[in-house]
Amino acid sequence: MYPRRTMIGGALAALCAVAGKAHAAYGDIPPLKSIAPYPLGVAVRRPQLDDPSWTALAAQQFSRLTPEWEMKMEYVLRDDGSLQTDRSDAIAAFARRNGMALHGHTLIWYAQDGTHFQRLKSRPDAFLAAYADYIQAVMTRYRGLAAGWDVVNEPVWNDGHDLRPCLWRDVLGDDYIALALTAARQADPGAVLFLNDYNLELTPKKRVRFLRLCEDLLKAGAPLDGIGTQTHIGADLLPGAIRVCLADVASLGLKVHVSEVDITTRGDNGANVAQPRIAQVRLIEELMTAYGDIAPAQRYGMTFWALRDRDSWLNGPKERGLVPDEPALFDNLGRPKPMAQAVAAGLASR
Ligand code: XIL
Repeated sequence: MYPRRTMIGGALAALCAVAGKAHAAYGDIPPLKSIAPYPLGVAVRRPQLDDPSWTALAAQQFSRLTPEWEMKMEYVLRDDGSLQTDRSDAIAAFARRNGMALHGHTLIWYAQDGTHFQRLKSRPDAFLAAYADYIQAVMTRYRGLAAGWDVVNEPVWNDGHDLRPCLWRDVLGDDYIALALTAARQADPGAVLFLNDYNLELTPKKRVRFLRLCEDLLKAGAPLDGIGTQTHIGADLLPGAIRVCLADVASLGLKVHVSEVDITTRGDNGANVAQPRIAQVRLIEELMTAYGDIAPAQRYGMTFWALRDRDSWLNGPKERGLVPDEPALFDNLGRPKPMAQAVAAGLASR
């Protein structure tokens, strides 16, 4: 009897043959989106659209884009309350030209508020009107292309003890989340509305608090459709943590978006952990199996938070001087790494 891995390898080889020449330029995997039973996404920044090696590989392998930064309030909202959407519009146009969907990221985030809202914080009614206006103005611009939105990003403290403090909560109270979801539903009734957070696999206490928030919102009738679990993980994450997390997240019956996958090879000391690629493959195999075990109707998709290692925020300006991180599926030349082959094998085995 052949071991499972050999059988998967055989299935992959067959798929490569079927997928034709397209895979030849990208090593020995078929275009991942061609074998995925759910949307596969990748994060994008506007400058990457001017890099033909990035655009060719991204359009070849993925079916959905998430703007990594240019759709966030920090860029979109000017001090006078007007919108600056040149870069997110360019990303949307690229998605349309390449038959890709868009995932809107993100409307409301504790980390970014801006002068326009700061000026209104002493006038709650005007603040709420501007809050709803912002959400609706951004969403309606991409209506029909954006399949879903991270309406509120990272609402829970990292240790899980409470909701995070933020301007939105200061002025509108804990209802800021339900108010954002309600405004979003009115803006685009066809969009899947998410709450999105990180470390739900690493910190069970945070996951418990986050899921309680979701349950409370559902009980109150808030239009919450899905949960984004970002899955920014370390190569040293304990076996089983991803599986337990996804089962818990899926237990609410909502859509599940594994929304920002990367697996850093850096340990706490900033150096590379031992044999990181072996650990990355194990974690990807666990992720693919656990996500495959979720009911198909709940699988909104999986999004990788960079195309190539050099595209990753973990190799950004603030990380200069650290050992280069290798968190993405493709190496700096666009070749599939063992993680990419593990994703392909996981998709092919379904
Ligand atoms: C990060 C981007 O990757 C960086 O380029 C940017 O400078 C800061 O934000 N969780 C999130 C994302 O939801 O929006 C963050 O993206 C990464 C953590």
